[in-house]
Amino acid sequence: MTPPPQIPSADAPNSRTLNARLTADHGEIEGLFRDARMALERDLQAEAHTVVDRIWMRLAVHIRAEHKVVFPALVEVRPDLQSVLQALHEDHDYFMSALAGAVKAMKGPSPDVALIRAALEAVGLRLDSHNAIEEETIYPAADELPREQRLQVLEDVSRELAFLPIRHGR
Ligand SMILES: [Fe+2]
Ligand SMILES: [Fe+2]
Repeated sequence: MTPPPQIPSADAPNSRTLNARLTADHGEIEGLFRDARMALERDLQAEAHTVVDRIWMRLAVHIRAEHKVVFPALVEVRPDLQSVLQALHEDHDYFMSALAGAVKAMKGPSPDVALIRAALEAVGLRLDSHNAIEEETIYPAADELPREQRLQVLEDVSRELAFLPIRHGR
């Protein structure tokens, strides 16, 4: 007889790490980039506009959680990460302004699709390396904080990520 499929328990170590939680959010946002690319390729402008707007909002919420909770938790205990955190912060500023530009560019009657596609590609590319640094260095460092603090960070991040405007709900 085939054993039943393993369902990860809420107490399983991986579902209780900040790395797992935020990496899953990265994955969902990457999925939206694929949706946007597909909509643009098919010339579905209204759909592409909705998805790009959604990327912008999801990324804003994700970045806010990092700025409000994750980065401050590491600043004092890991001074060696200061320059990495600074570079990630600069990436965040770039993502937000490039995506705001793309959303705005899509609002016009005849948006320049090539330009929007190029902007999305540029953001997506920089986001790949940005996310890799976070997943390999920053989130694991936060997962090494003392237990109480680590659980507090995880709880605060989950609360921040759940706070999405209604029109952008999952
Ligand atoms: Fe980030
Ligand atoms: Fe991130």
